[in-house]
Amino acid sequence: MRLTSRLSIALILSVALVSMGIAYYQTRAQTESMRRDLERQSLMLGESLARAAEPLVVDGSNDRLQRLVERFKDHESVAGIAAYDGAGKLLAVTPGLAAIANRTPKAVNEALRNGWVRTAFLESPAGPRHIVALPLYDDDGVAGVLAILHDASYIESRTAALWRRALVGVAVQTVIIVAITLLAVRLSVRRPILHMAQWLRDLRAGKALPSAKPAGEFEPLAHEVTQLASSLSEARAAAQQEARLRYSAESTWTMDRLRLFVEERLGGTRLFAVSNREPYEHRRASGGIQMVTPASGLVTALEPVLRSCDGTWVAQGTGDADRETVDEFDRVRVPAEPPQYTLRRVWLSREEERGFYYGFANEGIWPLCHIAHTRPIFRAEDWQAYREVNRKFAEALLDEIAPDASPVVLVQDYHFALLPAMIKEQRPDARVAIFWHIPWPNPEAFGICPWQRELLEGLLGADVAGFHIQAHCNNFLETVDRALESRIEWERFAVNRAGHLTLVRPFAISVSTDCAESAARPAGLPHLERASLLARLGVRATYMGVGVDRIDYTKGIPERFRGIEAFLENCPSYRGRFTFVQVASPSRTLIARYHDLIHEVENEAERINRRFQTANWRPIVLLTRQHSHQEILPLYCAADLCMVTSLHDGMNLVAKEFVAARDDEQGALILSRFAGASYELPDALMVNPYDTGELANAIRRALEMPARERTERMRRMRAVVRERNIYRWAANLIGELCAVRPQSEPPLLQDPAEVA
Ligand code: F6P
Repeated sequence: MRLTSRLSIALILSVALVSMGIAYYQTRAQTESMRRDLERQSLMLGESLARAAEPLVVDGSNDRLQRLVERFKDHESVAGIAAYDGAGKLLAVTPGLAAIANRTPKAVNEALRNGWVRTAFLESPAGPRHIVALPLYDDDGVAGVLAILHDASYIESRTAALWRRALVGVAVQTVIIVAITLLAVRLSVRRPILHMAQWLRDLRAGKALPSAKPAGEFEPLAHEVTQLASSLSEARAAAQQEARLRYSAESTWTMDRLRLFVEERLGGTRLFAVSNREPYEHRRASGGIQMVTPASGLVTALEPVLRSCDGTWVAQGTGDADRETVDEFDRVRVPAEPPQYTLRRVWLSREEERGFYYGFANEGIWPLCHIAHTRPIFRAEDWQAYREVNRKFAEALLDEIAPDASPVVLVQDYHFALLPAMIKEQRPDARVAIFWHIPWPNPEAFGICPWQRELLEGLLGADVAGFHIQAHCNNFLETVDRALESRIEWERFAVNRAGHLTLVRPFAISVSTDCAESAARPAGLPHLERASLLARLGVRATYMGVGVDRIDYTKGIPERFRGIEAFLENCPSYRGRFTFVQVASPSRTLIARYHDLIHEVENEAERINRRFQTANWRPIVLLTRQHSHQEILPLYCAADLCMVTSLHDGMNLVAKEFVAARDDEQGALILSRFAGASYELPDALMVNPYDTGELANAIRRALEMPARERTERMRRMRAVVRERNIYRWAANLIGELCAVRPQSEPPLLQDPAEVA
C-alpha cells in the first residue's frame, strides 16, 4: 500500500476518533445539563406545592388535597402529582397517574423511610419520567410524601437530535481535515520528494546540469548526498586511475600514493607548512561567513598536499572574519566539507604587513628576483619588519611543532627567507625545506640587495632549498659562492657552511591533474558552450582565447594585449571573430606600481577595443575581479588558446592548469619562454613576450594549426602534466627532506629512482 493511502486511512481513523470523542463529551454534557434543569424545575415546584400540601395531609383533608394536586396537573411538563400518607397509602392523585402512583415508586418509599427529598428518572409505559419525592412533616416526624412526576421524554429526543448533528459534524470535520492535510503533504513532502528524486537521478548520472538542488527541509539531506556523491565520484575516478596505471604500468603520483608515501617517510611525525598566503580566508558576506580561496599558485599547489596527509599549515590570517572562525589557539580545520587538515593563523598588524609583505617582500625581493625591469625598493624599516614577521611566524611554528620529534617543515616562498635558520636554531632536530616559488636571478642581480648575506644565511638554515628549475638552483649556488664563506659542492648541488649542509634541488611545481580533470566538468557546474559563454560576457565570436593572471607587471598583460592588437592588424579576417577573455585579479594594490598597472591594463584593453569593436563584438573582454577555479574552468575548456606571456616567472601554474583542464585534447598553449613551465612544455607555442610580432604570429598559428597537430601537442603536454603533477613535486621534496638525518648528521642521499 502506498504511503499516501496508509497516511489517509490513519488520518481518517484518528480524526474521526478524536471528533467522536469530543462529540460524545459535548452531547453528554448537554444531556446532563437538561436533566439538571428538569431536576431544579421539579424541586422548585415541589417545594412550593409541599408547603401547601403539608397541612392538608396532617389534617386528613383529602378532598382539598385532591383539588390541590389537580390544580397543578397542567403545569409546564408536569406528568402528574400524587400525595401519600405516612404509611405510603395514596391520598390524592392526578388522573392518568394512578397506574404509576398505586405501586408506590421507590423514591417515595425512600423519602418516607429517611425523611429526605429523593429524585430519580424512571421508565413508565408512557415514556421516561422524572420523579421528585418530598417528605411532609407533622410534629412527630414524616406524615406523608408529595410526589411530582415530569415528562422527561423531551431529553431523549433532544439528545438524539444532538447526536445526529454531532455525527454530521464529525463527518464534515474528518473530510475537511483529511483533505487539507493530504494537500499539505502533497505540496510540502511529495513534491519536494519527487524533486529530490529527480535531482538524485541527475546527480547519479553525473549530468552537467542537474535539476536545481533541493531547498527547504531537504537542504541538509541534499548537502550530505552531494558530499556522498562527490566522494563516490572521487573514489570512482581514483579507481579508474589506478586501473589505468596498472594497465600502463606507469608510476604516476596520486593523492593516495602520496598519502602512503608521506606516512611511510614521516613514520608518525606530522607535516607542517608555512606560507604567508592562507589557503582559505573567511570573509563576511550578505548570507553570513564565506570561505574563499585566494588567487595564488602557491595555494593551488600546496593545498592537495596538505589534504593528502592531514598536516598543519601556518599562514597569515587575512580574511575579515578570520578571527571569528579560529579556536583559542588560532586554529581552524579546513576545508569546510570534510575538514582535512589544520590551518593555524598568524595575525599581523597593518604596520607589520606594510613593511613585511608590501614593502620588503613585494617591493624588494619580488622585483629583485623577477627580471621585469621594475626597480626593487629597499627600505631599512621594511627590512626590520621582514625580520620581525619572520620571527613571529617562527614562534607560531615552533609552538605547533613542539610536541613532535624531528618534525618535517615545508617553508614556502620569498616571504620567509630567514625562517629556516630561526627554526633550526631552536629545533636542530627539525627537518626543514624551503621552496622558493619565484625565480632566483644571477648573482649580479641579487647582489644589489643590501641584506643579501642575511637572506642567504637564513635560507641556508634549511636542509633542502628547492627551486622550480635547475637554472634557478645554479643561480642560487653561484650567489652563495660569491656572497658567503662556504663550500659549494657542485657534484651534488649542495652548500656546506659551518658544518651544515643544504641540498639545492629543482622541484618543478605543478597542479593536481586528477582534481582539474574531474573538476573540469563538475556535476554542479554548467559546462557552457563557447557561444553561450561569450554571450554571457556580451560578445559574439567564433574563436576565443583566454588568459588568467593576477594583475602583476611580471605577467606581461599589456604586452599580451598589444600582441592581440597586432594579430588583428595583420589578420583582419579575424576581426569580429576572435575574442580574448582576460581574467585579471587585482593584487597587492597598496603598492603604487600594482595600482597603476590596473589602470594601464584597463586603458590598453579599452584602447584596443575602441579601435576594432563592432555592435556585438569586441576583441578583449577584461574581467578584473578574482574568479574561483570553478568559474575559470569553463573558460579553459571553451577556449581555442590560452596565453601565458610572463616577462619572467618561476613556473606559472596557469599554463599547467589549462593543459590539465583540456581532457578533450583540444586548445593550444602560447607560452612565454621566460616562464619556468616552458622547460617542461616544449609543445606549447613558445614566445618572447617582448616581441609583439611573435605574439601575433603565435595567435594565428594557434588558431590555424591543423587539428591533428593541435591534438598531438596537447596530448603530449597532458602526459607531462599528468606525470609531473603536484603529488610528485611533494613526494620529491618530502622524500629528499626525509632522507636528511636530523641533528646535523650527514644526509643520506636519496636514490633518485625511488621517487622519479
Ligand atoms: O609566485 C609567488 C607567489 O607567492 C605565488 O605562489 C602566488 O601565486 C603569488 O605569488 C601570490 O602572491 P600573493 O600571495 O602576494 O597574492
